[in-house]
Amino acid sequence: MKNILVTGGAGFIGSHVVRLFVSKYPDYKVVNLDKLTYAGNLANLSDIEDRPNYKFIKADICDYERILEIFKTEHIDGVIHLAAESHVDRSIKDPFTFARTNVMGTLSLLQAAKVYWESLPSGYKEKKFYHISTDEVYGALAMTDPQGHKSDISSHEVYGDDFFREDTKYDPHSPYSAAKASSDHFVRAYHDTYGMPTVVTNCSNNYGPYQFPEKLIPLFINNIRYRKPLPVYGRGENVRDWLYVEDHARAIDLIFHRGKEAETYNIGGFNEWKNIDVVKILIKTVDRVLGRKEFEDLDLITYVTDRQGHDLRYAIDSSKLKRELGWKPSLQFEEGIEKTVRWYLDNEAWMNNVTSGDYQRYYEEMYGDDK
Ligand code: NAD
Ligand code: TYD
Repeated sequence: MKNILVTGGAGFIGSHVVRLFVSKYPDYKVVNLDKLTYAGNLANLSDIEDRPNYKFIKADICDYERILEIFKTEHIDGVIHLAAESHVDRSIKDPFTFARTNVMGTLSLLQAAKVYWESLPSGYKEKKFYHISTDEVYGALAMTDPQGHKSDISSHEVYGDDFFREDTKYDPHSPYSAAKASSDHFVRAYHDTYGMPTVVTNCSNNYGPYQFPEKLIPLFINNIRYRKPLPVYGRGENVRDWLYVEDHARAIDLIFHRGKEAETYNIGGFNEWKNIDVVKILIKTVDRVLGRKEFEDLDLITYVTDRQGHDLRYAIDSSKLKRELGWKPSLQFEEGIEKTVRWYLDNEAWMNNVTSGDYQRYYEEMYGDDK
């Protein structure tokens, strides 16, 4: 496998995937295809942008003709598809954009891969279409024990008896997860109908450097720093399973190379936390790192109206991935949070740039605004 197309590589997870592949596989050409929406920022990859095995192309995955042309000119052998609209709150306000990018964009990418690969004498041999999805397609789990208890698969507290497994029925609730679910179905349909070598992974909530500060963890780190209110939805009782983004990128590398065709793998941290407890850890850590008294900023917590259709609990059972490919998360949550907090506090310029929107004006001038 030589020429890899990573879509969404200037976003949060995609930038970590591009960095890992460019550094680890000097023989691969890594083509990063991204529309650079508000969530895409080339500054996320400034440390590797000059590497000879890296190339950036600004394009919209919905632009089928352009995508097909890119497959042909770049001789694409493998796809790692991350480009998507990714924020649940935005999907509640603007579902159409989510259907367009996540469903039609994925379909356009699949069709371009199909047309190009079927035109080659070798066909689908040594080809792979890897689709990155989310655990949110499975819906929400019950909290059978709100106090939490330990399970046999995790040393950490868990908040229910049930977990998302690879065969859990799809039951998406938000426009975001409905669009991701639809795209997952299209990927599997391309395997079943045309024989395309596909693989799908469904991952839990990621955290770490370069995440756009509309998501809980970077937003709250920044707000604690500047002593702005922390808008906790509902009572803060919702549970998410958090995974450090570099652990996700490592899993993607492993599955891209060794995952079985047409399989699904769930990726998760075995790391469930109630939102309110995450917020308290963030306050404690930011206060300590900034030399304030730990928990000095607890009064920033502001309970606000709950998100519409707010899924109660996500928890992934990633034991298949552990059993078959030997992957497990490398970082404890407290360790990952410490690294993450320090990164955002050390990279104030990145944060200011992103929150001011300056980077978008800069790239619009450089590449044109084709929105
Ligand atoms: P992100 O919003 O940070 O990045 C998305 C990237 O896609 C951006 O660079 C954006 O410019 C690009 N993009 C958007 N629309 C595009 C289009 N039409 N054409 C080309 N590029 C486009 O997202 P993320 O958090 O890095 O998530 C990446 C993928 O991983 C998504 O598919 C998401 O569903 C999935 N995922 C995310 C998480 C998470 O916790 N963040 C968890 C599981 C799965
Ligand atoms: P988020 O980071 O948006 O990820 P997702 O919705 O994909 O899980 O939110 C994580 C959790 O934090 C989710 O339960 C919603 C909650 N949340 C808040 O309470 N306040 C906020 O301002 C945000 C952005 C999220």
